[in-house]
Amino acid sequence: MLDQLETPAVAVDLDILAHNLDAMATYTALHGLALRPHVKTHKSTRIAAEQVRLGAVGLTCATPREMEVMSEVSQDLLLAHPPIGAAKLSRLLTLPLETQLTVALDSSAAIDQITSTSRIMDREVGVYIELDVGMKRVGVATPQQVVDLARQVWRSPPLRFAGIAFYPGHIREPMRDQGPALEKLSVDLAAVLRVLEGEGLTAPVVSGGSTPAAWRMHEIEGLTEVRPGTYVYNDRTTAAIGACSWDDCALTVVATVISTTVPGQVVVDAGSKALGREPMRGGEEEGYGALLDRPDLVVSRMSEEHGIIELGPDADWHPRVGDVVRIVPNHVCVVVHLFDEIHGLRDDIVETSWPVAARGREPLAVSR
Ligand SMILES: Cc1ncc(COP(=O)(O)O)c(C=O)c1O
Repeated sequence: MLDQLETPAVAVDLDILAHNLDAMATYTALHGLALRPHVKTHKSTRIAAEQVRLGAVGLTCATPREMEVMSEVSQDLLLAHPPIGAAKLSRLLTLPLETQLTVALDSSAAIDQITSTSRIMDREVGVYIELDVGMKRVGVATPQQVVDLARQVWRSPPLRFAGIAFYPGHIREPMRDQGPALEKLSVDLAAVLRVLEGEGLTAPVVSGGSTPAAWRMHEIEGLTEVRPGTYVYNDRTTAAIGACSWDDCALTVVATVISTTVPGQVVVDAGSKALGREPMRGGEEEGYGALLDRPDLVVSRMSEEHGIIELGPDADWHPRVGDVVRIVPNHVCVVVHLFDEIHGLRDDIVETSWPVAARGREPLAVSR
């Protein structure tokens, strides 16, 4: 039972998880899109293996440790984060030889760096040129810059031009209102693909996608691959955007009421070191997480190990010290990174547990 867990703990409803995995696999298959899910949300081989079983062509990672851990599950890994620096590059290029490596990058310097290491290791690496489609984080902005970098890759064996990548993280409006942003993305992408083709540099893969826009990715002309991550668990932000329903939120932070002494509030043992201090992005909502059973009640203030749920004057919720609550976090990926273990629930009973194997930064301690 949930009240036997030492809290704060993370619990995942196994049936909802299975539904979420299945729904994305079905959607992408239906639209002929290759699914390369981002593992940063779950960081677990158990879920990655299920994604591969359901048809994922490979996996997307953000860190060397994720690449190392996930090389046990898939032989086709993308590092969707510029691989800069000798230490990172050496970890990348010493992944098992059977792993097909691809990286996404956006600079000539990054190409130079990975060319040197891949030559020393005599190992082919696929390269996606990262395109900024509006988020203004990484990625080049113009078709000509994409062409210049793609040409540099062509001139730099054993690198291989594998395609282009983008992350539409700026599209966070409610799903039904995403039309104009997706249309603009489609037009901008088409312009880049046209210029590339004109230069004889057809992109074998066009990789994009996020969870907020996941269910409308088939509207993007030319897209061949999607990389959603958050969809496996979903969270309060994803539900607010409408990319999932509240009932699709598979992961909750289980917390215990530890104090009710201050009138008008309830204190639980999940603070910022369990929930993360992530604001709701793109919406009006306040707080750092909401109760699964009462989404109107939110954790509105936090210390590191205290979460304060303010009750309005008309509150009809009167928990007692020792009661257990389940909180849907604002941003699930950060929460997962804060815990060593996930508990899998069926009908509110802990059925299984698994490690968050790819959390942290340490090299995986295995001999290869
Ligand atoms: C490069 C890249 N691809 C894919 C994703 C997955 O997006 P989401 O978390 O919205 O599912 C992310 C998320 O941060 C990302 O940075």
